[in-house]
Amino acid sequence: MTTGRGSDSNRPSTDVALARAAAFPRLRYMGSKYRLLPHLGPLFAEVGGRTALDAFSGSGVVSYLLKAMGYQVTSNDYLAFPATITQATVVNHRTTLDAADLDRICGPAADQRDFIRTTFDGIYFTDADREFLDSAWSHIDRMVGHKRALAISALVLSAARKQPRGVFTVRGLRYDDGRRDLRLPLREHFRERAAAYNAVVFDNGRRNRSITSDVADLDGAGYDLVYLDPPYAPARDDNDYIKRYHFLEGLSCYWQGQTIMQNTLTKKLPKRYTPFAYKHSITQALRDMLKKFHESTIVLSYSSNAVPDAATIEALLRDVKDDVEVRKVDHKYSFGTHATAVRRDVDEYLFIGR
Ligand SMILES: C[S@@+](CC[C@H](N)C(=O)[O-])C[C@H]1O[C@@H](n2cnc3c(N)ncnc32)[C@H](O)[C@@H]1O
Repeated sequence: MTTGRGSDSNRPSTDVALARAAAFPRLRYMGSKYRLLPHLGPLFAEVGGRTALDAFSGSGVVSYLLKAMGYQVTSNDYLAFPATITQATVVNHRTTLDAADLDRICGPAADQRDFIRTTFDGIYFTDADREFLDSAWSHIDRMVGHKRALAISALVLSAARKQPRGVFTVRGLRYDDGRRDLRLPLREHFRERAAAYNAVVFDNGRRNRSITSDVADLDGAGYDLVYLDPPYAPARDDNDYIKRYHFLEGLSCYWQGQTIMQNTLTKKLPKRYTPFAYKHSITQALRDMLKKFHESTIVLSYSSNAVPDAATIEALLRDVKDDVEVRKVDHKYSFGTHATAVRRDVDEYLFIGR
């Protein structure tokens, strides 16, 4: 990183950082920016700075890229499991799960709990897989700190990989297409996913943080760079993360303090309100958010299949920033809420306000 506020010369090169980020364990997550990293890395390097906020961290991959680029990173998401993943991978610099940890978690249960086995019977996974999740948690409950975060992250990723298309809107094994991820017992998944998380633990020499907060409640001051990837109101369909990932959210805390909607077929958690999900509230939410971060260099992700349109976003950014640039990225976006969803082309934009 050679330019920008507070940059220093012994930062890793962008190529090295991108290579590191490419190894980040991949969670299939709506709107994740894995495929955009080759565009984000050089842009972040160009912007420079010492401190960075990833305000909507999701899968955690952008936070991890920022860490790999040498930033002091603050990761935030209003869901709990994204924060657990960034605690394990962005905040954690040294701790890994050793063979004894893995043998214990994969061994006999430490207590008789059966919440997952009974609650999600006939809904998700086989009896043996659900029993493993309960059993694994009987040990994770006795763990603390980064080891606990790593174990939960590996468990969450295992469940996501084992679930068809990674979303918990569908029940049962109807979409089983024989892929290895869907066949592998969760206990074996867990060992593999834990090894993958262990492999990405490294120290970037900064005190990074992981927060679980609504973006509206964050303090906007103190960041050289702010990366914003909000869930834009889609023109069609919806962008409800809890609807798709309620099981991962519950699994990340063993449903402690969560209230399951018992009358729903998939035993969902209640929808989390966000003003970004609705056409009538997103523009004001964006305006408020950009104002909050007006002192920082802002990089805002946006897809052309969203509301409001690109011209409106640009105007909102110009309200708080003098120097605004819009970059269009050719980015194939592959995600759908239906089995028939096909890869569609959308224009991915990066709005930069300096
Ligand atoms: C487009 S995704 C971010 C994807 C992420 N950049 C990645 O690469 O995986 C949007 C994220 O915003 C979170 N979110 C939605 N509304 C929020 C709010 N009001 N405050 C904080 N996070 C919010 C969602 O939980 C979701 O993880």
